[in-house]
Amino acid sequence: MNLAIRDITDDDISHVVALWHASGVARPWNDPGRDIAFARRDAHSTVLVGLDGGQIVASAMVGEDGHRGWVYYVAIAPERQRSGLGRTMMQAAEGWLKQRGVWKVQLLVRADNAQAASFYEQLGYSDTRSVCLQKVLD
Ligand SMILES: CC(C)(COP(=O)(O)OP(=O)(O)OC[C@H]1O[C@@H](n2cnc3c(N)ncnc32)[C@H](O)[C@@H]1OP(=O)(O)O)[C@@H](O)C(=O)NCCC(=O)NCCS
Repeated sequence: MNLAIRDITDDDISHVVALWHASGVARPWNDPGRDIAFARRDAHSTVLVGLDGGQIVASAMVGEDGHRGWVYYVAIAPERQRSGLGRTMMQAAEGWLKQRGVWKVQLLVRADNAQAASFYEQLGYSDTRSVCLQKVLD
């Protein structure tokens, strides 16, 4: 495995959206293009992409909100899962946050995604026993 990790570029967007659909992190009620553009709007967040042989095989959106770090859209190409790429992308996301002085990172896992929960637990994440409440503002 030889993964090159960098910030997303304009040319990557369609490939990242395809990766999100293939891996199941895209949801019908979220617009991936809008989410990517919003993550890229300033220096508080980005989308990291992982490339192997020039092909995008992994992603992680990472950012900080002035208090905590957050990670979203952790996605590995289905045929490349369980080979350490997820762990590598999470290390990159955590490194991005540490460089900016962020000392705690959190993320959301859907209650029916037991595999993702196992993955994050393996990486040292634990359930905060909090409930996420959400409201759409527009
Ligand atoms: C979840 C996901 C990001 C994990 O990435 P990955 O590259 O497959 O994971 P890694 O190979 O780095 O796994 C690291 C460790 O996590 C654990 N793990 C990973 N996937 C697991 C699974 N499906 N079930 C149980 N444990 C798992 C294992 O302990 C693994 O180590 P091992 O392979 O030596 O046993 C990837 O499977 C994925 O993209 N899934 C679909 C999208 C998704 O659910 N994203 C998370 C949204 S919250």
